[in-house]
Amino acid sequence: MVHSMTLSVSFTYIIVVAAISVTIPTPVVGQSYTAVLMSDLHYDPYYGTGKAYICSDQSVQRLYPYGIAGCDTSPSLLASAIADAVTLAPTVAFVGGDWLRHQMDELPSSDIDSTLGVVAAEVNKLVDSTTPIVNWALGNDDLVPEYSFNISALLQLRDFGNVMVSNNLITTAEKATFEDCGHFFRDMTIMKIRIISLNTILWSTKIVPSLDPTVADPCGQLAFLQSSLADAVTAGRKVIILGHIPPGLDVHGVMTDGFSQKQMFWASRFQTSFVSIVQQFASSVTFMMFGHTHMLSFIADTSTFPTIPIFIVPSISPVYSNNPSYLIATIDSVTGNVQRLRHRVFSLKDSSWANYAELATSFGGIDLWNVTELAHVASTFQHDGAIASTGFGKADFLTEYSSNGNLQSLFLSGGKCDGVCASVLFCSMKHVNFADIQECSTLLDEKTSRETSPATILFTVLSVLVFFVGLGMMVHRRSELSTTPPVGRESAILSATYIMRTTSPVRKRHQ
Ligand SMILES: *[C@@H]1O[C@H](CO)[C@@H](O)[C@H](O)[C@H]1NC(C)=O
Ligand SMILES: *[C@@H]1O[C@H](CO)[C@@H](O)[C@H](O)[C@H]1NC(C)=O
Repeated sequence: MVHSMTLSVSFTYIIVVAAISVTIPTPVVGQSYTAVLMSDLHYDPYYGTGKAYICSDQSVQRLYPYGIAGCDTSPSLLASAIADAVTLAPTVAFVGGDWLRHQMDELPSSDIDSTLGVVAAEVNKLVDSTTPIVNWALGNDDLVPEYSFNISALLQLRDFGNVMVSNNLITTAEKATFEDCGHFFRDMTIMKIRIISLNTILWSTKIVPSLDPTVADPCGQLAFLQSSLADAVTAGRKVIILGHIPPGLDVHGVMTDGFSQKQMFWASRFQTSFVSIVQQFASSVTFMMFGHTHMLSFIADTSTFPTIPIFIVPSISPVYSNNPSYLIATIDSVTGNVQRLRHRVFSLKDSSWANYAELATSFGGIDLWNVTELAHVASTFQHDGAIASTGFGKADFLTEYSSNGNLQSLFLSGGKCDGVCASVLFCSMKHVNFADIQECSTLLDEKTSRETSPATILFTVLSVLVFFVGLGMMVHRRSELSTTPPVGRESAILSATYIMRTTSPVRKRHQ
C-alpha cells in the first residue's frame, strides 16, 4: 500500500555503475517472449484528498479505493495493475508515457520527482532483471506544465532521467541522450532488437511555447531517428519505435470540435518527415507503439506503412471513463513481430482483472503484424460487418476500444458510434495522413457542418445547466460530510459530477 507519506521521502540518486559484460544471446528461431504493454499510468498520489486531480472528495478513497471513472490512477490501482502484470512473468515491458497525473502544475514542483519515483519503483517490479529492460517513452503530462518544452523542460528531463536511473529503468549512457531532448534508443540484450523511444511532444501541435513554422527538426529528433535507424540496420537489428502521442488523427478532437486538419496530433511537416524516414527503413521496423488516447486501437495503413502496424495501447488511468487496462503481447524474438495481443481489463465495478479479447483470435486468426489483414478488420467494422469466422464486430471492438467503459465521453450522441463516428474512427485506423482519412469517407463533411447547428448550441446551454446543478449538489454534499451518506446516494452525486465533466462539449479533455 502506498501512502502519501511516501512522497516526503527524499530521493538520493545513488548511481551504481556496474561493469556488465553484454553478450547478445543468439536468438532462437521461433522463440517468443511475453511483453507487457502499458500506457498512461497518470498516477495521482493525492487521489481522494484535497490535492487530487478532480477527485478530491475523501469519500472516493473510502468507497472506491481502486478508482472511479473520471479520476486519475489511485495508489491502490497502480499497485494492482503492476501486481496483475507481474503474475505473467513478462520478459520485457513497454510503457507508453504519461507517468504522472494531469495538472501536476497545481502541486509544488517538489512533488514531480517524488510522484515519478513512486511510479518508477512500481513499474520496475514488472521485469525481474538487473539491467534496464522496461522500455518507455516520455508523455505530455510528464512535463510540467503539460506539453511545455523550453529551458525549464531541460532541467525537468535531467531530474526525470535521474529518477529513471535510480529505479533501474534507464542506463546512465541512455540518460545522457535522454536529457538533451527526451529521446533515446536501447539495444536489447535478449533480442536482436533496437528500441527507439521518441519524445513526441516535440512534434505535437500543442507544444508550449509553439514552434516557429520554420523549425524543421526540433531538438534534432528527426536526424536522431534517421541515424539510429541507419545504425540499427548496419548492426542487423530490427527496430521497434516507441512514443507517447501517435501520428494520425485525434478522434476525440474531431467528435467534439469537427473534422479539420487541426485535429491531427502532430504538425504536418513533422509527420511528413517522420513518414519518409521510417519508409526508408521500413524493412527493419517491426511495429510502432504509442499511447495517449487512453483507448485500445491500431493504425494499419496499407499505402503509407504497408509492413508496419501501429498499436495504440490503452490507459491504466480511468479518467476518460474507460476501465483501466493494458496489453499482453507475445513477441517473436527474431523478427520482433507481435504474434498475439491479449487485452487485460480491470473492472472498476467489480474491482477485479479479467481477460478481454485476444486480438489475433478475435480478428479471425489473422497475423497481427500483417497490415493488410489488420486494415481489412478496420474496414469490416467501418461497414458494420463482423469477422466471418468469429462474429467479432464493431460493437465488440468498441467494447475493447474503451475497455468496456462509457463511450459517452468520446462519442457524445448517446454514447453511440454512428455513421460519422465510424468514419472518423475506422478511417483513422486505416490511414495516418489527413488527406487519406478525408478521402476514406465523405461522411466527415456532414460532421463539420453539424458543428454549428442549433442542436449543438442547445446542448452547450444544457451542459452549463447540468454543471451548476452538479456544483450545487457537491456543495450540498460537502455540508453533510460529517454523517455517512448511503452508497447509492454517493454514487448518484459522483455520477452527476461525472456527467458534468464528460458530456460538456465546452470542456476540452487533456490527454
Ligand atoms: C517554460 O514554459 C512554461 C510554460 O509555458 C513557462 O511557465 C515557463 O516560464 C517557461 N520557462 C522558461 C525559462 O522559459
Ligand atoms: C498478408 O495478408 C495478405 C492477405 O491475407 C496476404 O495476401 C499476404 O501474403 C500477407 N503478407 C505476408 C507478408 O504474409
